[in-house]
Amino acid sequence: MSKGPGVEKMFDAIADRYDLMNRVMTFGQDRRWKDFVVDRGGEIVDGWALDLACGTGEIAAQFRRSNPEARIVGADFSRNMLIRAQQDLSAASIRFQACDANHLPYRDGVFRAVSFGYLLRNVDDSLMVLKEVHRVLSEGGRVICLDTTPPARNLLYPLIRVYLAVVIPLLGRLIARDRSAYAYLTGSTMEFHDADTLARLFEEAGFSQVAYKKFMFGTIAVHWGTK
Ligand SMILES: C[S@@+](CC[C@H](N)C(=O)[O-])C[C@H]1O[C@@H](n2cnc3c(N)ncnc32)[C@H](O)[C@@H]1O
Repeated sequence: MSKGPGVEKMFDAIADRYDLMNRVMTFGQDRRWKDFVVDRGGEIVDGWALDLACGTGEIAAQFRRSNPEARIVGADFSRNMLIRAQQDLSAASIRFQACDANHLPYRDGVFRAVSFGYLLRNVDDSLMVLKEVHRVLSEGGRVICLDTTPPARNLLYPLIRVYLAVVIPLLGRLIARDRSAYAYLTGSTMEFHDADTLARLFEEAGFSQVAYKKFMFGTIAVHWGTK
């Protein structure tokens, strides 16, 4: 069965508490990673940038701040996330749009940069989405992906495992009032491609100069590449 309908319902349910929960569980670091994402996007000048799976629009807003002349699109399939984004960023001149990342409603080669935060863990086929992103990027365009990544089995692993398996679902219950959505975050992180495998999928989708950087004790990775 496709993950899509369940994922959409889950993000609709947590949209109101989503940003607060992110701030708390990342100790306020998530904004810094989003800055890094936008920085990797390079200069958009007056071209188009797409933040896919935009949620409440934080990455799109950072693209807007760094590229005042660019045309920024935020796209997501959760209606409630888009409502939040439109309310919070009504003055930011960002175009928000409902769409499914598996089938992007854009022409080939339109965007100079496409970013996505915490999307790929939630789709059935990462490669299919990466190919779709490749299609809508212009030659030389940048892709940037922020996501959780399975932690390495090192000395810190037992502590990280407790944080992921116990603390995050507990915070989810207390802050987002939805334990299961945050237990899902932990489960989907542990099952997700490791960073090297994901980098290879970027290459398989057609990207070159693929690289990544890890954050937060190796539990977060930002991958990027060029069409
Ligand atoms: C964890 S939130 C991330 C929001 C935002 N990118 C951020 O970094 O804070 C994941 C978002 O991906 C969206 N999403 C998941 N699967 C999607 C799909 N197939 N198409 C479009 N949006 C999707 C969800 O609706 C949700 O808003």
